[in-house]
Amino acid sequence: MTPLRAPSGFAGSSARSPMALLACILAALAFFTTPLVAASADTSTAVKEIEKATNASLLWGPYKPNLYFGVRPRIPKSLAVGLLWAKVEDYTSVQHNFRHTCEQNEGMAGYGWDVFDPRRGGRQTIHDAGNQIDISTEFVKIPGGEHGGSWAVRVKGTPRPDAPADLKTTVISYASLEGLGTVAPKDDNEEELGYPGDVNFLGQTPELGKFVLKVTKGKGEHPAEEHPEYQKKPLDHTFVHSFQVPEQAIWQVKNLLFAHLKQNVEAVVKEYGQDHMPPPEQIYTIINKPGMGSLHLVQKVFEGPFEFDVLYSSASAPNEVTSDVVTEEIDAITRDFSKRYDKILKPQAPFDDEHYEEFSRSLFSNLVGGIGYFYGDEVVDRSNDPAYEEEDEGFWEAAAEARARNEPQLEGPHELFTSIPSRPFFPRGFLWDEGFHLLPIVDWDIDLTLQIIKSWFNLMDEDGWIAREQILGLEARSKVPPEFQVQYPHYANPPTLFFILSAFTEKLKSEVVSTDQETVAGQTGSLYLQNHAAAVQYLKDLYPLLKRHYQWFRRTQQGDIKSYDREAFSSKEGYRWRGRTPRHILTSGLDDYPRAQPPHPGELHVDLLSWMGMMTRSMRDIASFLDEDDDVAEFSKSYEAVVRNVDDLHWSETHQTYCDATVDAYDESTLVCHKGYISLFPFLLGLVQSPDRLAAVLDLLADPDELWSDHGIRSLSKRDPAYGTDENYWRSPVWLNINYLAVARLFDVANNKTNPHRARAATLYNDLRRNLVDTVFESWQETGFAWEQYNDETGKGQRTQHFTGWTSLVAKIAAMPEVKKAQVAHDEL
Ligand SMILES: *[C@@H]1O[C@H](CO)[C@@H](O)[C@H](O)[C@H]1NC(C)=O
Ligand SMILES: *[C@@H]1O[C@H](CO)[C@@H](O)[C@H](O)[C@H]1NC(C)=O
Repeated sequence: MTPLRAPSGFAGSSARSPMALLACILAALAFFTTPLVAASADTSTAVKEIEKATNASLLWGPYKPNLYFGVRPRIPKSLAVGLLWAKVEDYTSVQHNFRHTCEQNEGMAGYGWDVFDPRRGGRQTIHDAGNQIDISTEFVKIPGGEHGGSWAVRVKGTPRPDAPADLKTTVISYASLEGLGTVAPKDDNEEELGYPGDVNFLGQTPELGKFVLKVTKGKGEHPAEEHPEYQKKPLDHTFVHSFQVPEQAIWQVKNLLFAHLKQNVEAVVKEYGQDHMPPPEQIYTIINKPGMGSLHLVQKVFEGPFEFDVLYSSASAPNEVTSDVVTEEIDAITRDFSKRYDKILKPQAPFDDEHYEEFSRSLFSNLVGGIGYFYGDEVVDRSNDPAYEEEDEGFWEAAAEARARNEPQLEGPHELFTSIPSRPFFPRGFLWDEGFHLLPIVDWDIDLTLQIIKSWFNLMDEDGWIAREQILGLEARSKVPPEFQVQYPHYANPPTLFFILSAFTEKLKSEVVSTDQETVAGQTGSLYLQNHAAAVQYLKDLYPLLKRHYQWFRRTQQGDIKSYDREAFSSKEGYRWRGRTPRHILTSGLDDYPRAQPPHPGELHVDLLSWMGMMTRSMRDIASFLDEDDDVAEFSKSYEAVVRNVDDLHWSETHQTYCDATVDAYDESTLVCHKGYISLFPFLLGLVQSPDRLAAVLDLLADPDELWSDHGIRSLSKRDPAYGTDENYWRSPVWLNINYLAVARLFDVANNKTNPHRARAATLYNDLRRNLVDTVFESWQETGFAWEQYNDETGKGQRTQHFTGWTSLVAKIAAMPEVKKAQVAHDEL
């Protein structure tokens, strides 16, 4: 097979004329100056080159999204820079006011990235109502040199309208270093009491080379010294304290700071007594003691508004970053971002008002601004306990005993580059969230999504398993109760990464090779889409891993069709989620959605079969794209079997819907129907072929007494006895990920000229799209946040606050076109 494929414009045309073929080859050759024979080595080199360029422009970012602001490179152990602040108006509330890690319910009136481009930077605003101040962090990346370029952040504080005129704020930026290398203050402008001007650090590490880190003096007033005796702290100076901290503890900056401040405060109390204390803004300062160390705190105390910069300059870059550069760059980034956003994700009618644009940009920016880099070990139970097969009746009890009995082990360390569901609550990688996260990003920066996909597949074990929740290292684990930390190699999770692989393959097939100037020159144009051969090579490299993952699913989540006299087209394509308990199937992602009771080893889950169908179709298309003909034949056969079995195993004539299957007391196969998201899955994943069944799905979806609400499609029918009961997590609320799939499928049907239900689908599509965008928008306006889910009755956002993962799909929904009903009616004539 030739490593040089026809460029996209030609792929898929089956009857190729010799002229067309020649044109293909010439077009392909245009990308290489080297002859065909050397193509194989060249494509590998091209992939490496693309990866190197992508790595360089993605080396730095706010990749510690668990912090209000935390920069690190995509290097396992290296430099990290972060920020803490608090208002210092009295002695008692200071501890409580210190901000560092994102937390729910700590008096934030919204925060996050208003503008963010992962290649260039952006602006974040933190509306800190509790501290009566708005903090902004303007982050810019400046390419150049050999080590992923330089970067800077401008930190600004603007007192909120309710703040006192002399609001006192203490701000601490810090630099920490793990692994080899050093970072230390350059001592030339040090004074005993602190630094009157800029503070410079010099550093070097094997990966970053030499660098300079400068914290500028900045602008702003400082509190006057009021205490007659306590003159040690001139607050117009900057204080630096360097600590030598064990690597394992270095992320606990706030604890270390508090321990240090406590000593200080105790000493002051002892010296002056409770009644003659110096003011709080003075005593809550660190002791100025710069030196060698792995953690350097840099503190400033301001009165009123302020501003300062942290400038990181790679020594290999041609110029040192200055504050002027930051000013210029942040303007340019904001301007270019808006221009590009309008091209790619601009909200369409009826959302063409500027409020929706701001909303959409904010949600998208928070999604990409929430991308993190994680490194560390994870907890895995590799006991392979036979109870984990879940083959016997009462299996969940045996499995629970086994889980209690077996000792999980630490594995790794591993690294993961991932976008996260929520900065305060879920600041780590979740497998099935990821595919949804990447859907809006694919349009913006496909190369970035390909790196994230690769990062996930690098985590796959020899069997083909990928842990569904990635809790890497102590910092990540500190947010998760122990019982939820353990990962089990028989637990699956919906294979949503295949959404992106399919989107990529589609783009490769359809994209006429771009000569667009912006794409060629811009840092965000896709290198893969411009270099078809390299794109093919990327898929080829990944292909064996995809196959292994697919086989793992088939093997470990296999359902039992044969033992229960089930009549089905295929005796293989039926599946059952493992990790089932009476209350939950966490592995399905729809945790508490009602299923058959009690659980039974003969169960078959319609959502899982649908996911398998989607994955099989994606594998078929990738194999076809790669000319893996034998595999194409096999995947096609399996796909056909899945499509047939969805109907044979899961369609209920009685209920006119798709249902899970189980086995009753007489060992007879039977269907268990809880109308809701589960029933929609064959439709959501594109597997419903019969127009009659499609009509039934649309009936269910459109009925306000079942799934339709003014705020989106609710997770469980209002008529289901389990509606709104118990944990009520997936038993009534509206979820954006599933709604996005519904919107996308309705759009397909509405645009399918031969589909008898297209007019109805068009109406539903327009209405659903409008309901969803307005629901998320209104909660956002009211609360300042996107939410994990929305109440189906009131439309209010609920559960996790600042859920900027798949809820951000609403940006993509807003950018979809309204379907003109007149057009549909016209076509139908
Ligand atoms: C790009 O970065 C990833 C993750 O840090 C690394 O595994 C990979 O080897 C890098 N690729 C190149 C070509 O440098
Ligand atoms: C359009 O609808 C028809 C009738 O339901 C169906 O057979 C066909 O597969 C659909 N086309 C696409 C591209 O989905």
